[in-house]
Amino acid sequence: MKPYYEDEYVTLYHGDARDYLAAQPDQSVACVITDPPYTERTHTKARSLHGDEIREGITTFGAITDDDLRILLAEMGRVSQGWVIATLDYAHAFEYDQRPPEGLKCQRVGVWVKRNPTPQITGDRPAQGWEAIAYLHREKGRSKWNGGGKHGNYYTMTDGRQGHPTAKPLAVIEDLVSKFTAEGGLVLDPFAGSGTTLLAARNLGRKVIGVELEEKYCELIAKRLDATPLPLLVKEPEAPVTATAAFDFGERLHPANPEIRSSGWSKTPNWAPRRVGLSHSEGLA
Ligand SMILES: C[S@@+](CC[C@H](N)C(=O)[O-])C[C@H]1O[C@@H](n2cnc3c(N)ncnc32)[C@H](O)[C@@H]1O
Repeated sequence: MKPYYEDEYVTLYHGDARDYLAAQPDQSVACVITDPPYTERTHTKARSLHGDEIREGITTFGAITDDDLRILLAEMGRVSQGWVIATLDYAHAFEYDQRPPEGLKCQRVGVWVKRNPTPQITGDRPAQGWEAIAYLHREKGRSKWNGGGKHGNYYTMTDGRQGHPTAKPLAVIEDLVSKFTAEGGLVLDPFAGSGTTLLAARNLGRKVIGVELEEKYCELIAKRLDATPLPLLVKEPEAPVTATAAFDFGERLHPANPEIRSSGWSKTPNWAPRRVGLSHSEGLA
């Protein structure tokens, strides 16, 4: 596969995650952080509200089958030296908690609660309002992370500004990168979408590989990365930014980034000293 985009930190391939993973040696990346497509069932059930218009299903990228998802996660486990962290619908996350993909164990199922969820259009039951985060790890070997005894749950706005229907909040993915990887560790996202994992990893000075099937999203990623300066100076935060802080301190205004404000990050702005010249204002008007 030829890279579609490359810089000092990021390599993006335009291709199929199945082909990419099959060609990779065992344990060749430090960590996988990804957001696979939903299955047909969830795709067709998905509805969203755009003004007064109700849109049915996710039509801008294809669904994945249950079997393929299980096989692909097992492949990610083979390629990872430890963690495979995947945002999933709750049914898959709970299934993997009981019966993980081959070679993996489920260390925890976390939640991303959306501060601005799509309402329940039918009005006959509560809206879903959250997605699961499966914290999977290679079966062999002890898991470790930089979060100590903290939890792995998030409470943030969705990100509707990236031109991709399921773009994840950058601040959440940055937090995952900082907690589950060490500086210099190689991150992989085989379902890159709008490139949130690639940008998050790059912002924190990690090398990262992305794979995306749709050329239009590869183009989106390249533009997004080009629009954000490379980090000039990176050092590890003294204390990692945590979702716990979101609950402890409530909403606070970050000087440059509305995502951080909406996530209610720590009152300690430990972003600033480790990024000289880095604009963290992606998406600001
Ligand atoms: C849920 S989205 C990821 C969104 C991403 N986390 C973000 O923040 O923008 C899944 C992405 O996987 C891509 N995709 C679907 N099947 C794929 C495959 N077989 N190989 C690579 N990418 C694929 C879709 O085009 C879609 O952009």
